[in-house]
This record gives sequence, C-alpha cells and structure tokens, in this order.
Amino acid sequence: MKATLEALGLEIEQTLGGCTSEEELEQVRVTFLGRKGRLTEVMRGVGALPPAERPIIGELVNAIKRRVDERIESLRTEWQSAARAHALATERIDVTLPGRRSLQGHQHPLTTTLEEVTAIFVGLGFAVHDGPHIEDERHNFEALNIPADHPARDMHDTFFVDRRHVLRTHTSPVQIRVMEQTEPPVAAIAPGAVYRHDDDVTHSPMFHQIEGFLVDRGVTFADLKGVLGLFVQRMFGPETRVRFRPSFFPFTEPSAEIDISCVICGGDRFVDGQPCRVCKSTGWLEILGSGMIHPAVFAAVGYDPEKFSGFAFGVGIERVAMLKYGINDIRLFFQNDLRFLRQF
Ligand code: PHE
Repeated sequence: MKATLEALGLEIEQTLGGCTSEEELEQVRVTFLGRKGRLTEVMRGVGALPPAERPIIGELVNAIKRRVDERIESLRTEWQSAARAHALATERIDVTLPGRRSLQGHQHPLTTTLEEVTAIFVGLGFAVHDGPHIEDERHNFEALNIPADHPARDMHDTFFVDRRHVLRTHTSPVQIRVMEQTEPPVAAIAPGAVYRHDDDVTHSPMFHQIEGFLVDRGVTFADLKGVLGLFVQRMFGPETRVRFRPSFFPFTEPSAEIDISCVICGGDRFVDGQPCRVCKSTGWLEILGSGMIHPAVFAAVGYDPEKFSGFAFGVGIERVAMLKYGINDIRLFFQNDLRFLRQF
C-alpha cells in the first residue's frame, strides 16, 4: 500500500513537471485529487485497513495531497507573476509622449471677410438680400441698361447656361430683383458668388461680390461718398484715405471707381527705398465700382426718376481679403491647401 502510494506521489510530481499551462494544472488536480481522483480513491480504501495501519497510510496520503496542492499553487503564482511581468514590459504606456490633438477647424478667410463687410453695412441700416446664381438675361444685363449688342457685355466674359440664361456675372441683378419688389426708400446689400470666364493670379472663374444700393428722395453723390468712405475706414483702418476716379458702368451715371491708399506702403509708394509692389508704386489700390443709379434702371423697375435717386456699388470680396491679408494669388482661396488656410 505504502509503495503504491509513493509511486502515485511520484507520478503526480512528474505529470505536474510536464505541465505548461494553468488548464493542465487543473486537469492534473482533477485526475488525482478530484472527487473521483486516483488519490481520493485510495483515501476511501483507508477505512478497510487494519486499525494499526490506518493513521500511517492516512498521514501519507495527506502528505502527498498537501505537497501536490502546494506545488500546483506555487506553479500557478510563478506563472501568473511571469505573465504580469511580461505584460508590464510589453504593454507599457509612455505617459511622457504628447497626446494626439484633435484638429479644430475655423472659418475660411473669405467667409470672415464677407461677414465683416456685411456687418459694416448692416450696422448702417442696409438689409441683406439674396438672388439666384443662374440669372436670366433681363436681370443680369437688360434691366441694368446693357442691351444685347452693347459692347459692355464684352467686359463680362459670360458663362451661358442656355440662350436666355447665364451664370450671373455680378451681383447687380439683385438690385433689380429687390427694386422690382420694394418701393423706395430701400437700402440693401447682396453678398454672394459670381462667375466669369477668367482665370489668372487676380481672376478666378468664381468669385464673390457684395452689391449695395440705396434709393430715396434726394440721395446725392455726397451720400455715396459718405457711406463708402465710412466702409473703407472701418474695413482697413481710420488712417485709410479714399480717391474717386471717373469710370463707366452702363447702370450708373456718373460712375466712379474707388481707390484706397495702399495698405502696404500707406500711399508713400516706396517700402524701404524700393518701389511698392502691391500698388505698383502708385500709392493707390482699386477696391470697388460705384455710381448714381442710371434713370434707365429706374425705368426698368418702375421707379420714377423724377422723384427718386440712389447710389449703387459693387465690392470684390477676394480683392478686399487679398489686400487685408496681403495675399498675392486669388487661387489660394479655392485650392483648400491647409498650409494656407491655417494661417488665418
Ligand atoms: N457690377 C459691377 C461689376 O461687377 C460693379 C458695380 C456695381 C459698379 C454697382 C457700379 C455699381 O463690375
């Protein structure tokens, strides 16, 4: 009996020695020490032994049982701490590494400029209006005193949608739409995209304008000068000077182009002794077209030119943004290069 037990003890030790996982250890425990385990069977047989042998064999069985339990337990802890050490070594997080920053977007510089210009005119009491980008010829040209054979149509490099419709070449058709629906007095602006077949460093086939106009009794060129002078100073700073140059638009008479003192050289024409490249050493930058609304336009919308007068203007948003931020290529606005956009 004793010899059998010792052999069994040895067998268990060997089996344990071959174990490589906790599952195998458990298997060994069940096989030998479980309810139907081989060592348990032997235990059951102890009662049938002569009384003198019982304590000796019982003691022996218990000793084997204890040894096996201890061995299993120590293997288990050994493996667990090895696994833990391995995990600590390989799954280490370097808390000194900088975290991943989530990128925050912001407004496009053109949107910012458009909103800024809009806010200035809204502050002066102008209402904001919108119009279709696909315009009929009447609103884009005829009602603006540009008949079909008028040479002024050449200035517009028009995209035709069909024989009677164009992509609007300016925001001036919104003047017509608003006047058709409103009796004077009226003061409105119309910001939005316009389209011309033109593409170089200062021209884009799609760009943005803000149209503005005001009609009432007794409106004069002095009102135009006052409003646009204020706009320019709010937009470019109080030191900015304005200059009115005679010009031509079919829908205004008289017409004027407005220049501001150069934002780079301040009108000095030279920067560090070098001719200013932004204003080409003229000291002035053209910024918008304007004039007193032509009687023919009033006739087209049913306003009485004997009773009412008004002024109108059109500002190029890209141009304002380029001057304000010192950008020298209009195409940068539309390429969506983040290296450019992030600078704003
Ligand atoms: N519509 C003109 C253009 O696009 C600008 C303008 C608007 C001029 C209103 C005078 C009055 O060139």
